[in-house]
Amino acid sequence: MNVYEAIEKRRSIRRYRPDDVPEPVLRTLLNAARLAPSGCNRQAWKLIVVRDKETKRRIAESCRQRFPGPASDVRVVRRVAKAVAEAPVIIVACVLVRDANMKYFQIEGEDPVMFSNKGRPRDQSGFWQEFIEHRSSHEGEYESLGIWDLAIALDHLSLAAFEQGLGTCWIGAGDTMALKRILSIPAEIQARMTMTVGYPDESPEPRSRKRLDELVSYEKYE
Ligand SMILES: Cc1cc2nc3c(=O)[nH]c(=O)nc-3n(C[C@H](O)[C@H](O)[C@H](O)COP(=O)(O)O)c2cc1C
Repeated sequence: MNVYEAIEKRRSIRRYRPDDVPEPVLRTLLNAARLAPSGCNRQAWKLIVVRDKETKRRIAESCRQRFPGPASDVRVVRRVAKAVAEAPVIIVACVLVRDANMKYFQIEGEDPVMFSNKGRPRDQSGFWQEFIEHRSSHEGEYESLGIWDLAIALDHLSLAAFEQGLGTCWIGAGDTMALKRILSIPAEIQARMTMTVGYPDESPEPRSRKRLDELVSYEKYE
């Protein structure tokens, strides 16, 4: 299977056969995530693999609890919770916020300081000084760097899974605080996404996509 074929044929899978995912197969997917590019090659993320039934049940329940009152019982919420509870493996994807945003740049008191990837302050003359100034005035643009990296890693993982005959689904509907409690995730780490993994028990039709000319323009924004 070539990459384009995997991109074209992958679907979000929310119903799984009970068959377990062998550890060597799972490690192939995890390794695909490991090989993903990341800004400054910082790899500021961590994946937590959950196979334990009770832990998955608690995470599934927390997905429902996130939607208060009757909303927790609407079909789409129940379907997500069921996918999380029944997938043989779920992967909770975390951003190491400090590493993502601060490894190369920290504010020390009033002064921005640039760090090398070995944690030593860099020479801050010339280019670096300009970069630091730019960074200071565009802070918002840099906040989400860890999310980019994590998303690419998960996308690699989901395509590698498809090649192995596995289905996946991104679950953004999880409850971050509950994930932290259930999985003992430290306060400074963000649990941003859950991905279910297992052998598909459904073959969904392709979801529609916008036309290319709605998504892309040439030379200027149109
Ligand atoms: C960031 C992100 C968050 C998502 N969150 C959920 C979710 O909480 N529940 C769910 O059932 N699907 C979720 N999905 C899956 C999308 O609904 C799905 O990718 C989209 O409908 C297109 O369908 P396809 O993946 O089968 O092509 C998410 C996908 C992404 C990329």
